[in-house]
Amino acid sequence: MIHLILFGPPGAGKGTQAQSLVDYFKFMHISTGDLLRGEIAAKTELGLEAKRFIDAGELVPDETVIGMIKNLLDRICTVPGVIYDGFPRTVAQAIALDTMLTSCKEGITALLSLEVPHDELVKRLLLRGESSGRTDDADVATIENRITVYGQKTQPLIDYYTKLKKYHPIEGVGSVEEISARLISKVKSL
Ligand code: C5P
Ligand code: MG
Repeated sequence: MIHLILFGPPGAGKGTQAQSLVDYFKFMHISTGDLLRGEIAAKTELGLEAKRFIDAGELVPDETVIGMIKNLLDRICTVPGVIYDGFPRTVAQAIALDTMLTSCKEGITALLSLEVPHDELVKRLLLRGESSGRTDDADVATIENRITVYGQKTQPLIDYYTKLKKYHPIEGVGSVEEISARLISKVKSL
């Protein structure tokens, strides 16, 4: 079975492109950001706790997001393919995912990393903030903090998956369709 991580900084287009891949390959889509926003909307305890981190542009603690993935493990282990969007975001999350997948004799197929320059990320996120109302896209300081946190905590995953020969950079600038085509042809070549 296929397990693809769609990777990149905030604003790289992970959510948009995950949807393209899901439409094309009919894989299961797991967006931890969407799951967290769902918890916030439902005003659960987990959501209220997570909101503080998200609004500050920080990461929600590892045990919380790992727990959300664990809750989906029965399905993750039985569907033909999964696209992980926004997870893992730390090396601890990557190790936990490897352990969970090993428990059902599965493993990560590839990490597809959308490469987008810094200024383009900020531009895209500010635009998205205007239309989506996402609190973490509303101001430049929070956006810059998220990009800094990405550099400190998430970018080290590139090393982690490079060592496993699973890292695949993808040019993330262009039209949505152009980028989808690059991703789809990469997935077919795996
Ligand atoms: O993935 P997405 O950008 O939609 O996530 C929105 C926010 O949710 C992140 O900026 C972060 O605060 C939080 N998040 C997290 N850990 C994850 C996924 C999302 O802390 N694995
Ligand atoms: Mg997203």
